[in-house]
Amino acid sequence: MRLLVTGGAGFIGSNFISYVLEHTSHSVINLDALTYAGNLENLAEVEKDPRYRFVHGDVADVEILESVFSMKPEAVIHLAAETHVDRSILESGAFVRANVNGTHRLLEIGRRHGVWKFIHVSTDEVYGSLGSTGRFTESSPLQPNSPYSASKAASDLLVRSYFQTYSFPAVITRCSNNYGPCQFPEKMIPLMICNAMDGVPLPVYGDGGNIRDWIHVSDHCAALVRMLEVGEPGEVYNIGSDNQRDNLSLVREILCILGKPESLIQFVADRPGHDRRYAIDSSKIRHALGWSPKIQLPEGLARTVQWYRDHPTWVERVRTGAYRTYYRKMYHQRDRTLSSL
Ligand code: NAD
Ligand code: TYD
Repeated sequence: MRLLVTGGAGFIGSNFISYVLEHTSHSVINLDALTYAGNLENLAEVEKDPRYRFVHGDVADVEILESVFSMKPEAVIHLAAETHVDRSILESGAFVRANVNGTHRLLEIGRRHGVWKFIHVSTDEVYGSLGSTGRFTESSPLQPNSPYSASKAASDLLVRSYFQTYSFPAVITRCSNNYGPCQFPEKMIPLMICNAMDGVPLPVYGDGGNIRDWIHVSDHCAALVRMLEVGEPGEVYNIGSDNQRDNLSLVREILCILGKPESLIQFVADRPGHDRRYAIDSSKIRHALGWSPKIQLPEGLARTVQWYRDHPTWVERVRTGAYRTYYRKMYHQRDRTLSSL
């Protein structure tokens, strides 16, 4: 089958493309705008594969979409998005443009050209925040709290409407927090690993008691391939691997793996509207699709730390001047004593 993967140069997209080319016979067109988060270096090992093709462009650009759909992809895996909550708090316009308008254009052109299946990669963050008990199920209400999660909820609901209104064959997935190789070090796990490797402070927001439910990106990729094969259009599937941790414990685990002192931890001002706890009930995908995760957090975290240790050039290249400017802006507002990288 010919797949159109949007956002394939990002963290999950590049892991997904490598996974598909290794484990299936599908071919892949990767449509990516190469924002600060897109990095073709993530795909260096597959760029010469005859089943892989890269197209540089924006999912909100109708002309580009027309030319990509003229290649007749049979299925779409839509990952392209602005993805970082903290950036969405600083500047939400880019999130509305990419996540809402971009998804809308893709749906319109996909509908006109016709596709066999459209997988929309949404997020558990559309559900908002949990109290001290319970988990998100597919029927939990959507109560997004950040501009990022609100833009994802808007696109999630647009996708739903295209199934209801036009019988567009869309499946929605809502996955928990991913970690693994090639994740841009603005997100918590790679940021903490990179800072710890450099011996600079690890900025923990608030009291460090916020809880996230972590899944290794390779388990997410396997779930998306399964979704392609047997996911039911019109259905929503949570994806998670039942590995909840509070942020402070996770940061301590990273320091322990790297043999670095806990004195590197620095508590800084909290994120506005910070969701307290995520926990995902993924029994539907486990029963309906026969998928289950293979990697538990302690093993996955050790492997991820090793990946960052083994790829100093990758780390150096992504932590460019633009990254340092971002870091200074984001973290000096949280704690003026935090030194630049
Ligand atoms: P990422 O930020 O690492 O990558 C996003 C990619 O999309 C980049 O390559 C970027 O260049 C591209 N992109 C951005 N705007 C674009 C546009 N307008 N047109 C074309 N390409 C564009 O993100 P990620 O962590 O790999 O997340 C991928 C998807 O998975 C997103 O939709 C995100 O909401 C969803 N998701 C992520 C997580 C997570 O923990 N990372 C969890 C659940 C769902
Ligand atoms: P993040 O990786 O940004 O994912 P999300 O907010 O989408 O869940 O953050 C994960 C958790 O880590 C979240 O509770 C915020 C916290 N965090 C920090 O404490 N310090 C940091 O520098 C970052 C980036 C995140």
